[in-house]
Amino acid sequence: MLILWQTILLNIQYHQINMDWRTLFPAFYPEKNDKEANRDNKCSKVEFADIGCGYGGLLVDLSPMFPDTLMVGMEIRLKVSDYVSDRVTALRTAHPGQYQNIHVIRTNAMKYLPNYFHKGQLNKMFSVS
Ligand SMILES: C[S@@+](CC[C@H](N)C(=O)[O-])C[C@H]1O[C@@H](n2cnc3c(N)ncnc32)[C@H](O)[C@@H]1O
Repeated sequence: MLILWQTILLNIQYHQINMDWRTLFPAFYPEKNDKEANRDNKCSKVEFADIGCGYGGLLVDLSPMFPDTLMVGMEIRLKVSDYVSDRVTALRTAHPGQYQNIHVIRTNAMKYLPNYFHKGQLNKMFSVS
């Protein structure tokens, strides 16, 4: 019986996805060779998640309201997530120093949401369906 429970528990453990958030939010992460910043653990963490972010309207609106908070949209449709990614890139180019705190991941949030974040990491989660 004990072995059966151990097997079940092992199988439902979430597999943490090793995300390199630096690629999405380079302005919020120190350079890899910035030993001082790395030692002080100055890396920010995503705190807001927009589940099924669609074309990213909520992220774009929230970005200037919470400029120090990292927010990620999760979108299952490839073309839509590509659109959001291009939209963020265009906004960052048009408004230097702004919109650095938002980006998108193409994923099935229903299936993989817990794999992206540590326990207690998210402060807000939005989902408009
Ligand atoms: C009704 S739209 C809402 C879009 C946006 N939140 C808004 O308010 O404009 C729902 C979005 O969720 C996405 N979606 C549906 N299931 C999803 C899933 N399992 N993981 C990630 N995104 C999903 C859809 O592709 C769609 O873009």
